[in-house]
Amino acid sequence: MTTRGTYIAFEGLEGCGKSTHVTRLAEKINAVATREPGGTRIGALLRSILADPENTDLNSRAELLLMTADRAQHMSELIEPALQRGQHVVSDRSMYSTLAYQGYGRGLDVDTLLSINAWALNNVLPEIVVWIQIPTEEANTRLAKRDLDRFEREGADFFARIGAGFAELAAKDPARWILIDGLEPKDVVEEKIFAAVVAHPSFTLHS
Ligand code: TMP
Repeated sequence: MTTRGTYIAFEGLEGCGKSTHVTRLAEKINAVATREPGGTRIGALLRSILADPENTDLNSRAELLLMTADRAQHMSELIEPALQRGQHVVSDRSMYSTLAYQGYGRGLDVDTLLSINAWALNNVLPEIVVWIQIPTEEANTRLAKRDLDRFEREGADFFARIGAGFAELAAKDPARWILIDGLEPKDVVEEKIFAAVVAHPSFTLHS
């Protein structure tokens, strides 16, 4: 029987270096690299609605449901089949972004979001969450250099609530979360992530 792969998610504020380290870890452990929102064809359509700075009228609950629709599609089309084939999946963001952004950031009830997401995911949750931590001020500085999407245009308070949200989620569930200092040099961050992931009890080593 094939050993099931491990579902690993990366989380953190914008500009923390997630996408670089998702790619680097996925190469090292021979995993499928993907992202939310936008990891599937349907997801890319949803992502364009969610990111468009013109959509200032998007309601928070509608935003939550679009994020969760992306996730349901992502799980059924890409994540679950890969895990079943025995491949690891490394995803740039997961349902923990919904808890942080739509929950702590927008003020929707976190327990309700958790149950909607668990339903959308058929209860397949990330087994390992790598949180690349950077201070809110650093995220703001890094963002100042980019073309901003709808989320990136939110104020510093929004990102401060999200940072605090990630901290609370990690503190409640320390066995699942790996905390990484995102201010260290990229290669050091890469090494630390790799070492922590392969040492994690949920990581299945494939021969
Ligand atoms: P990205 O820029 O890291 O790819 O993420 C897109 C934006 O969407 C980012 O600002 C975080 C936000 N987001 C949520 O608000 N809720 C979610 O569930 C996810 C996956 C992302």
